[in-house]
Amino acid sequence: MTPPALSSLLSRAGVALAVAGLFAVTLRSVPGLHPTTHRALDLVLLAIWAVYALHLALELVALRRDPAGPGRFALAVDVAAVALPLMAAALPSGTADAGFFCAVWALKPLRDLPAFRLMVTVVANEWHSMMGVLSLFALVFFLAATTAYLVEGPGQPEAFGSIPRAMWWAVTTLTTTGYGDVVPHTFAGRLLAGAVMMCGIGVFALWAGVLANGFSEEMRKRAFTEIWGLVSSVPLFADLPHRDLAQIVRVLKTRRAAPGAVLCRRGDIGTEMFFLLEGRVRVDSAPPVELGQGQYFGEMALISGAPRLATVTAVTPVMLLTLHASDFQLLIEQNAPLADSIHRTADERRGLRPGPAGGT
Ligand code: CMP
Repeated sequence: MTPPALSSLLSRAGVALAVAGLFAVTLRSVPGLHPTTHRALDLVLLAIWAVYALHLALELVALRRDPAGPGRFALAVDVAAVALPLMAAALPSGTADAGFFCAVWALKPLRDLPAFRLMVTVVANEWHSMMGVLSLFALVFFLAATTAYLVEGPGQPEAFGSIPRAMWWAVTTLTTTGYGDVVPHTFAGRLLAGAVMMCGIGVFALWAGVLANGFSEEMRKRAFTEIWGLVSSVPLFADLPHRDLAQIVRVLKTRRAAPGAVLCRRGDIGTEMFFLLEGRVRVDSAPPVELGQGQYFGEMALISGAPRLATVTAVTPVMLLTLHASDFQLLIEQNAPLADSIHRTADERRGLRPGPAGGT
């Protein structure tokens, strides 16, 4: 087996090994384990560590040939998975249990997960807003602890006798965890607790809002970039100014369909038109025609407001861009040359004007 093939095999085995390793780490923590079982679990961890070390070595060798490699985060995870347990094992005996440092393998499944990479990007993008919310949290937390110390401190010195002591109550109340081990006794203290809980809910809602907005913004950006690249293969948009192109890219949606899927049906009301990016479709007009990459259909019902003139079926797997009727109307109102081109094609298809079979 070649080193790249072995490396890719080990990479694929990485998640399964991590699960086995974490299981062993968990079992090792059970008190009263038989020494033989303990030794067997240590051997499992050692074997997994050896596989990870081999994988890392192959990756580092490959990195010299291809500097793009597996990406910085993936490499950092692979280095930590080998280095941390090794460092713990190298410490003087009794200082650290190297086996527990294998818990870092919990990062392995995240290494190649697109959703995790998306989350990291969102956190990086929203860093400033998140720090703003965190500062607000810190401020409310400090004020809550200080006020609780002033109000409850004299009556409950154990729990509120200093600001650091009152901080435990402040954090469990602000996060609305409320263990109930420390509670205010005075009326003013209870009023304070209510206010702190409300603030806690507000701060966490703000935090969730920042992240949710970050996610939707990132998804929108990705969709925009993807569709911008796809739109360039549609000849109809070739001469569109960048400003108009950006506007249409925002409203186009991608869609895939399998062979045999009916994309629009004769007699139906038209709600969208379609641009073919990949594959072929069959229009059951008389005579029937096939349309291919770069061509469009479903425009006639949007222009006339009349029902669909034909049924269009996917012949091969197809990838399409769809444009909703209201966006279509805006587009042709704002762009006369594009409207002319679409009207010309529609006339050719109706046979009112000579032109290439199937239109442009
Ligand atoms: P519409 O009537 O909205 O829905 C069916 C679509 O099939 C139609 O718009 C055209 O886009 C397309 N179509 C109908 N007749 C022809 C034809 N003769 N050649 C190419 N496309 C056609």
